[in-house]
Amino acid sequence: LTGERIIVVSNREPYIHTKEHGRVEIHRPASGLVTAVEPVMRACSGTWIAHGSGSADRETVDRHDRVPVPPSHPDYTLRRIWLTKEEETGYYYGFANEGLWPLCHIAHVRPIFRLSDWQQYKAINKRFADAIVKEADSDDPVVLVQDYHFALLPRMIRSVLPKATVITFWHIPWPNPESFGICPWREELLQGMLGSTILGFHTPFHCKNFLETVDRYLETRIEHESSTISHGGNLTLVESYPISIQWPYPWQDTIPTVDECRNEILTSLGLSPTHLIGLGVDRQDYTKGILERFLAVERMLELHPEMVGRFSFVQIAAPTRSALDDYQAFEAQVRNLATRINQRFSTGSYQPIILKAEHHEPELVNRYYRAADVCMVTSLHDGMNLVAKEYVAARDDEKGVLVLSQFTGAAHELHEALLVNPYYIEQTADALFQALSMPAFEQQERMRSMRALVRDFNVYRWAGRMLLDAARIRQREKLAL
Ligand code: G6P
Repeated sequence: LTGERIIVVSNREPYIHTKEHGRVEIHRPASGLVTAVEPVMRACSGTWIAHGSGSADRETVDRHDRVPVPPSHPDYTLRRIWLTKEEETGYYYGFANEGLWPLCHIAHVRPIFRLSDWQQYKAINKRFADAIVKEADSDDPVVLVQDYHFALLPRMIRSVLPKATVITFWHIPWPNPESFGICPWREELLQGMLGSTILGFHTPFHCKNFLETVDRYLETRIEHESSTISHGGNLTLVESYPISIQWPYPWQDTIPTVDECRNEILTSLGLSPTHLIGLGVDRQDYTKGILERFLAVERMLELHPEMVGRFSFVQIAAPTRSALDDYQAFEAQVRNLATRINQRFSTGSYQPIILKAEHHEPELVNRYYRAADVCMVTSLHDGMNLVAKEYVAARDDEKGVLVLSQFTGAAHELHEALLVNPYYIEQTADALFQALSMPAFEQQERMRSMRALVRDFNVYRWAGRMLLDAARIRQREKLAL
């Protein structure tokens, strides 16, 4: 694919311009998708099409709604699509985040399917399809469609540009056929996705669920041997591509040492240099298991009173999708639980849970990673979870312990983490205590293996494997003509 201009399409944009105190500020969103895809885009160049969501986004684009990014030294073009409040409510908050998000995560939040949301979802998918066609400078572009906001897009693109190579990556889990089957528009969603040349998921298990779902609800030919589906004259390869992060880690050369980061963070929290720190980094999303994690911290303190006053758990919790009732209710639950546990164990200025419910820029998050004795990722269900990999990448001192939910894609790769069932509070509490008392040599052994995995299977490999598969398919199609 050398020399090809790649088009990436996602809902969330990699750079958000906002106006604060009369000045334009740039933010990097808390999004696993953006964390992973952005370095790939910088390496490949091309155009990234996304929803322009920042209050100053319009001020920064040219008359074609384009802005070169990264702002400091541009490598590619960000093309923004504008949505009205109503469109955002139906397509993004409604169908994508009240319908598909809980549907695919099976996190015991009942999905909501409104006809009006679905209509917006279809209309916005069409809007993005039109933008892609406009951006394409040949009749066979390579388009990378990202995530559940755009299930209908692949077929829409192929209906106008039949020779396009459409690589779709589904960043969240794919449920079993019974669970997916409650969606009133299941056939249309599946048909839309089968416009892809390649359809990627994080794990073989999600691929298997997808093939079974298609088998249940559509008339298709499935070749299990090659993991391909033929439908409506299209052939789709369904394959697992576990997503990852940048390696070498971006701040490797400039970030202060682990000791310096530790001092800085502990001082900023008003804690002594020997205080033990646990860390959680998440969007405030009900799938992330934040409440279960706090309960595990509480249980650990109950079982090991010697840890009271010696250990604090810092939760960085970025507000997300706050316009939705379920998310607002969840933010309140997180706050209330932290308060209750703090009231129970606080003495003087000591607080067992330090809740930082605001957005933190990635560089600062990285300093927290380096300061933390243990990082807890306790998602109830998660496609991959890049926080787990970021923590490992940040620890070039080979210290620190990862407690990881077995229901994340990351658990399929990071076997040396302490794996837990987040619904089982007792087990997570034990794992937390085990992490805090783990000898340095064992921390090192575990961390070293995990670091080797993230180094070898970094995000360039993730993108490289998909693009290589795409190049092979393109070549085969050319020869068949
Ligand atoms: C998950 C989704 C991404 C999304 C991110 C942040 O990682 O898979 O598509 O960008 O959450 O959520 P938001 O709704 O803020 O984009």
